[in-house]
Amino acid sequence: MKILLLGSGGREHALAWKIAQSPKIEKLFIAPGNAGTASVGENVSVKADDFEGIKAFVLANGVDMVVVGPEDPLVKGVYDFFKQDSQLKDIPVIGPSKAGAVLEGSKDFAKSFMGRHRIPTAAYRSFNGTNIEEGIAFLETLQPPYVLKADGLCAGKGVLIVPTLEEAKKEFRGMLDGMFGEASATVVIEEFLSGIECSVFVLTDGKNYKILPEAKDYKRIGEGDTGLNTGGMGSVSPVPFADAEWMKKVEERIVKPTVEGLAAEGIDYKGFIFLGLIKVDRDYAYAKAGDPVVIEYNVRMGDPETETVMLRIKSDLVDLLEGVAEGNLDTKTLEFDPRSAVCVMMVSGGYPQAYQKGFEITGIDDVQGSVVFHAGTALKDGKVVTAGGRVIAVSSYGQTQNEALVKSFTEASKIHFEGKYFRRDIGQDLLK
Ligand code: AMP
Ligand code: GLY
Repeated sequence: MKILLLGSGGREHALAWKIAQSPKIEKLFIAPGNAGTASVGENVSVKADDFEGIKAFVLANGVDMVVVGPEDPLVKGVYDFFKQDSQLKDIPVIGPSKAGAVLEGSKDFAKSFMGRHRIPTAAYRSFNGTNIEEGIAFLETLQPPYVLKADGLCAGKGVLIVPTLEEAKKEFRGMLDGMFGEASATVVIEEFLSGIECSVFVLTDGKNYKILPEAKDYKRIGEGDTGLNTGGMGSVSPVPFADAEWMKKVEERIVKPTVEGLAAEGIDYKGFIFLGLIKVDRDYAYAKAGDPVVIEYNVRMGDPETETVMLRIKSDLVDLLEGVAEGNLDTKTLEFDPRSAVCVMMVSGGYPQAYQKGFEITGIDDVQGSVVFHAGTALKDGKVVTAGGRVIAVSSYGQTQNEALVKSFTEASKIHFEGKYFRRDIGQDLLK
């Protein structure tokens, strides 16, 4: 089988690494890929949202399946583009239709979907330019801190959590005034949830589903979860508090109604669902202390969660993806690797604010026993150079989480580039 994977980050290198291990794979292409994906497949210089370019490549190279990494092409309708094209319609795309991608593309839609299917999520209301004063009045009914979300996609920057009512009112007006452009023309205001976060991943063929290994990511730049939000500084899997009893609640209260709800609403969804969950630490109207509550949906895998989740899937991922395409995912087996997996993200100095690119990366070949996933790298004159804020993810196995962490920290210190930084406290909050 010939697979084309769309995307170019650490998530895509991890997916490519796993797909390339399948005995079913004849050829793996990554568009556009990065310096790391080039080592497990063939990079193609087509952008992930250049649908005509993708079509030309797929037809010219006999691609049998397209796997979509990032949300952008999904929200822009790559699934529908294939379905509606007479030459492409029989080539499966792993990822939801445009209607399904709205679960991530519109927070307002995601919240109303959860309301319709009684899926536990924070109490909320949505506002736009026509009911600003009602929004202000709603804020006055809430307790601090205040959670304000731009409805549309904002590259992970559209959520503000503010400590005072005064600031909340100011930011709310600012958002409606175009702080995030069109994306914040509608703003969701919701109740703040107190607890600890966990990412749960589901693979579905629209009817059947498999729950993949869960993971926890570390979003802040600084140790002890301080400083600015980033795309993710590391991840661990499994998550100790996501035990069998908790995962049962996740399945019954969230996964099943989500998959059934999509089907009931006639939404074509064959792909990954990423549940951003919180284990709340007190009672809410819709959940008791300790229960899982949904913070958000994403319609793709997480980054850097994929860099640990792929290590923990023992089964053939391509076999599972075929099950998604053929609608017989229930006949496929999904086995987990019982070991712990962790990922430590090495980032450019200055990230997530301004940083420089183009520095040579050395020492990758000295790494032993860990998997080096490239996130933001490029090849220049035969050398691997930095090409993004998040540069390299060092993923490791361990019999315990701590063993895996020690391994990743040891191997990460062998890799060098100017200004490199990584957090040395990934997973430490879970060891308490
Ligand atoms: P999102 O873009 O929806 O993932 O939100 C970004 C981050 O904001 C989440 O990962 C949470 O850490 C935080 N967050 C979002 N919504 C809430 C909420 N209702 N209560 C507490 N934290 C939240
Ligand atoms: N790690 C969070 C995300 O991929 O959105």
